[in-house]
Amino acid sequence: MSVSRLIVNNDVRAGYLSIKDEIDAAVARVMDSGRYILGEEVRAFEDEFSSYLGVRFGIGVGSGTEALHLALRVCGITSTDEIITVSHTAVATVAAIGLCGAKPVLIDIDASTFLIDPERIERAITPRTKAIIPVHLYGYVADMEAIRFIADRHGLRVIEDCAQSHGALLKGRQSGSWGDLSAFSFYPTKNLGALGDGGMVLTDDPELAERVRWIRQYGWRHRYVSEIPGFNSRLDELQAAILRVKLKYLDQRNEARRQKAQLYAARLKAMGIRCPVEEDPKRHVYHLYVIQARDRDALQTFLKEKGIETLIHYPVPVHLQRAYQYLGYQQGDLPATERCSKEILSLPLYPEMPESDVEEVAAWVGRFYQGQ
Ligand SMILES: Cc1ncc(COP(=O)(O)O)c(C=O)c1O
Repeated sequence: MSVSRLIVNNDVRAGYLSIKDEIDAAVARVMDSGRYILGEEVRAFEDEFSSYLGVRFGIGVGSGTEALHLALRVCGITSTDEIITVSHTAVATVAAIGLCGAKPVLIDIDASTFLIDPERIERAITPRTKAIIPVHLYGYVADMEAIRFIADRHGLRVIEDCAQSHGALLKGRQSGSWGDLSAFSFYPTKNLGALGDGGMVLTDDPELAERVRWIRQYGWRHRYVSEIPGFNSRLDELQAAILRVKLKYLDQRNEARRQKAQLYAARLKAMGIRCPVEEDPKRHVYHLYVIQARDRDALQTFLKEKGIETLIHYPVPVHLQRAYQYLGYQQGDLPATERCSKEILSLPLYPEMPESDVEEVAAWVGRFYQGQ
């Protein structure tokens, strides 16, 4: 016996269809406007999203990777610098450091939360260290107070990678409002996702904000006049208009994720499965619902046979990927990260997912372990 249809990991189309009329109207508005790059929609979305986060300035850019790259660039990061981050992240976090020519220093995570371990940050600091990039992975905010404390003691910048944490809170304060700068992605699968690529850099510092604005468009201070070297990384009007609509539903859709996560937890914990940790004073937004599973690969195959799509975020830690061999890490260097990569499994979860599907996935997980 198997499920009657495929239970997908994430259904971005369902997100579009749930507010189709509003999105279609926003798209039509932009098409009619004749302004497709850096117009009113981008300006309005920058204001609306930065207000939502409680940060002074937001600058719309081409992607989350470029948002991180730009944030590093305006901190003056160059090839002699080291940036501390985790290996257990999307490769984009590390790629952005590479784009500045700087050296990524990859440290281990706290295996219970999958997040950067502040104690390990301190040990990784050298005279070349210039910044820390905490990643709020899966929608759970890193320990920003401890990280800020360490950064201030050593004169380091903090750049938050918020690609997976739109709307996540720590002590009632938004992720993205704790660092010197923060970087968001609006890739379609994200909690706040466009219908294409997009990103944003946020900061309270007017000088840093101004420099991001210059660099995202050839370093122009005024049209055709470059103040500093820049390139092209702009959020476009269509995506900004779509994101303005979707921002209105972000809290509601995060709440829907949270309800499904609670249902998973109620069912799976009773079976002894390690579920995501959520402790006060943090609010998880469950970009992904990641369990740590015994016999993970066999479980994934079993679920696939039953029509349930699961994913692994991420199967090979960045420090063990061929592209980053040049950094000189070996198997065994980051034990918690390496162990997690073998045990983690992202179960289906998206705001429109029927609760009956959550029940069904949990039931099949239970049957897998009962059958063993
Ligand atoms: C943790 C993390 N950082 C950075 C990025 C990069 O974002 P983008 O795909 O918009 O470049 C992503 C998304 O893929 C991500 O998940």
